[in-house]
Amino acid sequence: MLKDYFVKTIVSLLKEKTNLQEDELEKLIEIPPDFKMGDYAFPCHSLAKTLKNSPNNIATELSKVLRTTDSIIEIKAIGPYVNFFVNKTIFTEMVLKKINAERNCYGSRNIGSGKSVVIDYSSPNIAKHLAVHHLRSALIGNAIYNIYKILGYKCIGINHLGDWGTQFGQLIVAYKKWGGEDTHTSYTVTDLNNLYVKFHHEMEKNPTLEDEAREWFKKLEAGDFGAKELWQRFKDISLKEFQKIYDMLGIHFDAFIGESFYNTMVEDTVTRIKEKGLTRISEQALIVDLEPYTMPPCLLRKKDDATLYATRDIAAAEYRKKTYSFDKMIYVVGSEQKLHFKQVFKVLELMGYDWANHCVHVDFGLMKFKDGKMSTRKGKVVLLEDLLMEAVERIKKIIEEKNPSLENKEVVANDVGIGAVIFADLSTKRNKDVVFDWDEALNFEGETGPYVQYTHARLCSILRKYGRPVTMDIRFELLNEDEAIILIKNLWLFPSIILKAAELYEPSFISNYLIDVCGNLNRFYNAHRVLSDDEELTMARILLVYATRQVIKNGLKILGIKTPEEM
Ligand code: ARG
Repeated sequence: MLKDYFVKTIVSLLKEKTNLQEDELEKLIEIPPDFKMGDYAFPCHSLAKTLKNSPNNIATELSKVLRTTDSIIEIKAIGPYVNFFVNKTIFTEMVLKKINAERNCYGSRNIGSGKSVVIDYSSPNIAKHLAVHHLRSALIGNAIYNIYKILGYKCIGINHLGDWGTQFGQLIVAYKKWGGEDTHTSYTVTDLNNLYVKFHHEMEKNPTLEDEAREWFKKLEAGDFGAKELWQRFKDISLKEFQKIYDMLGIHFDAFIGESFYNTMVEDTVTRIKEKGLTRISEQALIVDLEPYTMPPCLLRKKDDATLYATRDIAAAEYRKKTYSFDKMIYVVGSEQKLHFKQVFKVLELMGYDWANHCVHVDFGLMKFKDGKMSTRKGKVVLLEDLLMEAVERIKKIIEEKNPSLENKEVVANDVGIGAVIFADLSTKRNKDVVFDWDEALNFEGETGPYVQYTHARLCSILRKYGRPVTMDIRFELLNEDEAIILIKNLWLFPSIILKAAELYEPSFISNYLIDVCGNLNRFYNAHRVLSDDEELTMARILLVYATRQVIKNGLKILGIKTPEEM
């Protein structure tokens, strides 16, 4: 709950009449489900024991002795609650003035100032297509990045590319044998992927290929020039393709630091783990036994000495702590890697790092497609580029029907199509599976990105029609209808919604909040004319429109969604 002016007043009133401390009181204050019951409520259950009375009686007694003020105009007991009614005019003025003063910064705070957060997101594997879970990770990670940033934290977004491991030995062998001559300039990720497939196919007939691949990976680990050159080529081809998708989505990283980067550091990391007496050999592999913590062992080195995914994650965590001295490190990775992160965090803890419990695995569910698979050109795999392009194409068609004379159709279709995919992903609680349904995601009237964007554009259009500067100099008491009050109260919640989203790493709080705001706005709009001959009323309602548009814009920006002014 926000320590707003009203809460502070209520706390000081309650403090006079109870023996509870300010912070205790503040934590107890709630917002009733219906504002007709009151704007704030104080539950009396916690006083029952000390006062040896029933919560209902206490509420009644308190409501009699508490005094009203200019801003708290009525105090009334309902069951075990003392309910407080605020002066709506003062409230409205405070909310609308604050939003107008802070504009693009409304919602921001400085609670993170001086602290930094490392966020590891998307992190795809090179020589393979960016998969749907890398998309989900990118979108959730990007939103969490924006949420923490707006709270004043310094954020460091890292793409921990999967660019190391024995599979690159296989790819080198496959490329050398079947890659063709000098055609690499036109090579795509699909070609690299096909080489993998061919390698595994051939390996069944000829098992020595695997030894060859292992040799090549060893060379790569040892820094062999030829091996490195090929590997770099695979990486460049992949990054080019990934970047195209990140650009389409507007996703940014502060650093691409892949697993390969830690190749020179893992040795020292393994030594430190050994020196702590945490390791032993099991079936020729080097492991950390995690049986006491009811987990399978964490593998550090395979029998051929090659390091593993977990080893590199442990080295990466040490490096990041040293480099960024983070207060928190967030890994946005699918739920199927739960065990992996539990093991990594446990090993870090056993190594004696007190910051191990500042590492969080923010997991998420799958994205499924309602019609079983996606209708892509290739049929089988979901190519993200195809998914995004299809969304844009479909929106283009809708715009062509609804608003054929729209300027910048291409740009708007792009913003809305991509926005629809982002919103569909981020409006589901992250640990649930997302079921992607074209008709649902693109519906301008459902709980969708296009709906929120469309509401925003409509508010822009009202402001354009109004055509004059918006002023604060209005009669706030004119915004007294239920629909207006509900909307204003809703706008007031935005900063605390962001805080809640940060605490639980849950961008869906913001998307669902935006759906509420749009619903409340539309109820207001349908019941009351904004632009009318009544000059003063128009000015007041325009200010509300202006503030609502600002909140929607700020919310969509956090989610990484654009806000076209016309659509
Ligand atoms: N490359 C991994 C995958 O595709 C995800 C990496 C996540 N980040 C990490 N630090 N392990 O499954």
